[in-house]
Amino acid sequence: MSEKMSNAQQALDKRRGQMNNRYRPGFHPSVPVGWMNDPNGFSMFKGKIHLFYQFFPYDSVWGSMHWGHWTSEDFTHWSDEPVAMAPDKEFDSEGCYSGTAIEVGRKLYLVYTGVRTEGPGGRRLQQQCIAESADGSHFTKWCDNPVIGYDKLPTDYSPYHFRDPKILQIPGGYRVITAVKGQKCGQLITFVSKDLHYWSYEGVFVNDLGEMPECPDFFHLDGHAVVITCIIRSDPLPFPNNYLVCYQVGTAVDGHFFSNNPRRTVDWGLDFYAPQTIEAADGRRILIGWALSWSHVQATHRLGHGWAGIMTMARECVIKEETLYQQPVREMAARRTEAQNLPQRLIQKETSLPECAGKKKELDLLLDVEHANSVTLQLMKTGNESLELTWLRESNRLRLDRRNCGYPLTDDGSPEKMPYSEAPVTIKDNRLHLRIFVDVAIVEVFVGDGEVAMSTLAYPKGDSYDVSLRADGFVQIISGIGWEIL
Ligand code: FRU
Repeated sequence: MSEKMSNAQQALDKRRGQMNNRYRPGFHPSVPVGWMNDPNGFSMFKGKIHLFYQFFPYDSVWGSMHWGHWTSEDFTHWSDEPVAMAPDKEFDSEGCYSGTAIEVGRKLYLVYTGVRTEGPGGRRLQQQCIAESADGSHFTKWCDNPVIGYDKLPTDYSPYHFRDPKILQIPGGYRVITAVKGQKCGQLITFVSKDLHYWSYEGVFVNDLGEMPECPDFFHLDGHAVVITCIIRSDPLPFPNNYLVCYQVGTAVDGHFFSNNPRRTVDWGLDFYAPQTIEAADGRRILIGWALSWSHVQATHRLGHGWAGIMTMARECVIKEETLYQQPVREMAARRTEAQNLPQRLIQKETSLPECAGKKKELDLLLDVEHANSVTLQLMKTGNESLELTWLRESNRLRLDRRNCGYPLTDDGSPEKMPYSEAPVTIKDNRLHLRIFVDVAIVEVFVGDGEVAMSTLAYPKGDSYDVSLRADGFVQIISGIGWEIL
C-alpha cells in the first residue's frame, strides 16, 4: 500500500471518533470524516451495490482528491469500506477526480480522471485512467495510465478541462463519454475501445453545454435515451432554477445523441449536483446526487464539526412523456416505524402538526388548496426558526426557503444572497401531494408523482424539529401520515 493510501486510511480511522455529529443525518449517506463531493463509481459488483465519492480525509474542505467508498445491500444502509484510491501515482498526483465503474468478467474497473501538473508549478492536465479490483475493495491502478491521455484529444479541446468519464459497455467493446471544454463551448465527447486499454476518439456526443459540462451520465429508460449533466455557465443564470444540473430525453445512435426536447432541471432544491445512476438488479434506474452545490459552504465546516458532505437518498427514476419522475427507492419504506395519521381538518392560522415533528421523518400529505392563495409548511421548527415550504397560487410554484433556519451556508456566516429556490408545480383537482423527508440537516421534497424533486440542506440551531401549517385563506388536510424513520 502506498504511503498516501495508508495515511488516508489512518486519518479516516483516527478521526472518525472525533467528529461532532449534531448534524449527521440518519438515513442519508454522509462522509465519515473530512470532505466529500460527487458520487463516483456507482455500480453493482458481485450482487452488491457500490458507491464511491470524491473524498478529502484530512479536513472538511476540498483538497487533493481521493476516492472514499461505501457498499449497500438495499440502497438505504451504507457501510464504510476502506479508502479506494489516493492520489499516489505520477499520472494522478494532483488528484483522482470523478469517474464511473463497470463490472467485467468478475472484476470491478474504476474509470476516473487523473490530474497531474504539466511540470513544476505548471497547469493541471486532466487525463482518463483505470484501476481494477477482484474483491471490490482493494484497487490497483494500471501501469499504462493514462489510458486516454490528452494526446488523444483533438486539438480544439483543452487538456486542462477534460474529465469525468462515464464508462459504458457497447457491442464488441466500451465507450467513454467525457466532459470537455471546446473553443466555443463545452461538449460531451466519446472515445471507444475494444479492451479498455487502447482508446480512440469517436466524436461529439452532445454539443453546446455552456462553458464546460461536468459529470455526465447516460442511460436508456422507458424507451428513451437520457443524458444528465451539470453545466457551468458564465452568463447570469435564470431564476428560479439555474439549470445547473439538467437532463435531456432523446435518442442515441452510436456515439451521437439527438434531441428536440428542452434541457430540464433534475432537482429544484438549493443543494444538488453531479448525480450518477445505475441499473439495479431488478431493472430500476436508481439515481444519487451530491447534496450541495459549489456556491454553498456547509455549516458543519464553519462550525468545526470535522466533516462536510451529504448525499441525497437513492431515487427511482422513470420517464413519462419525455419528463423525468423521481421518488425515493421503495426500500425506504422498510425503514419506517410508528406511523401517525393526521386528522382531516381545515387550517388557516398557524397550526402545529405533532404527528410530523421529529428529526428523522417521512411525511406524506395530501392537501386541498382550493381556498388558499398560499399554503406554508414550517419544517425543522423551533420557536421563530424554521425551513419554509410554501405553495404560491399566483405563480403556481413551490418555494423552499432556508433564510430563517439556523446557520447560513456561507463561508463567513453572512446571510445567503439566494437562500431559497422555487419549482413549478401543476395542481390537479386543487390537490397538492407532498412527500417530504426531513433528516437532521437535509430535506428532500417530492411533489405529485415525483415530477418535481427538491433537495436542500438546513442547519437549524434549535432542537425541536416541530412542523406547522398555515394558509392565506384555508387549506384542507385530506390525508396525512408522519413516519419516524429508523
Ligand atoms: C464536479 C467536479 C468534477 C471533478 C470533481 C473534482 O463537482 O468539479 O468535475 O471531477 O468535482 O473533485
